Amino acid sequence: MRMVYVNGDYLPETEARVSIFDRGFLMADGVYEVTSILGGKLIDFAGHLARLERSLNELDIKKPAAFDDLLEIHRELVARNEIDEGLVYLQITRGSSGDRDFVFPDPETTEPTLVMFTQSKPGLADNPAARKGIKIISIEDIRWGRRDIKTVQLLYPSMGKMMARRAGCDDAWMVEDGHVTEGTSNNAYIVSGNRIITRQLSHDILHGITRAAVLRMAREAQMEVEERPFTIAEAKQADEAFLTSASAFVMPVVEIDGVALGDGRPGRIATRLREIYLEEIRKTAV
Ligand code: PDD
Repeated sequence: MRMVYVNGDYLPETEARVSIFDRGFLMADGVYEVTSILGGKLIDFAGHLARLERSLNELDIKKPAAFDDLLEIHRELVARNEIDEGLVYLQITRGSSGDRDFVFPDPETTEPTLVMFTQSKPGLADNPAARKGIKIISIEDIRWGRRDIKTVQLLYPSMGKMMARRAGCDDAWMVEDGHVTEGTSNNAYIVSGNRIITRQLSHDILHGITRAAVLRMAREAQMEVEERPFTIAEAKQADEAFLTSASAFVMPVVEIDGVALGDGRPGRIATRLREIYLEEIRKTAV
């Protein structure tokens, strides 16, 4: 049985408990991180840890006591669950004061809740979807204004994913004021000629850890990168498109709102970037 981590204890998943008054449950008052595992090692762990600290700071959620042990806990969970390829999910909420109140509980007396669990995903790196490419639809972005904080408010992204499924597609890209913000759980890119175009960082999108690594590697490989907003109309005309995330790495997009991009197959640059990313990022896995 899967072993999970809850507030200091490693437990079988059926024995893990969180209070019904936990603010994560009552108010989506929490943040999370997702780190991939390849060859039993954590990918870009330092990046995920740094973003986690930032998310906590932005929301004034205190660090759990075990914050400095997070690498060790990640490794322990990976080992106990014998994960070769997969994901580690980490959730921190503001905890439970034992009641429901909109006012934040006193951090002196209320400890944050820390939950971690693994998902085994054999074939995460050698994903057949990356050879075929995926299809996306566009939907309006109606999320809140601080998407740079990785909160557990995932209802709308989840609804977006279902809208995509119902349309016979794989995912949705969100559009605000005519421009693409990001995907339901990924950052969005188009390629025009040799130029990679992706929205610049701001409060409008999550600052993807994979995005940072992929853009760095693209520049190192002398590819041209332009950080600016783009429209769905521009995306439909693009030579290629792709998305990035800790679970999808670099995933080619071959269709947007029913319009095939290029020849309808994964693009050269997206395919190359996926190769480079998977090769390079393993070197710093811990
Ligand atoms: N999602 N944008 C959003 C809205 C996301 O939820 C994610 C990650 C990303 C990509 O960030 P990163 O490269 O750091 O994974 C962008 C994770 C994987 C998830 O919710 O499963």
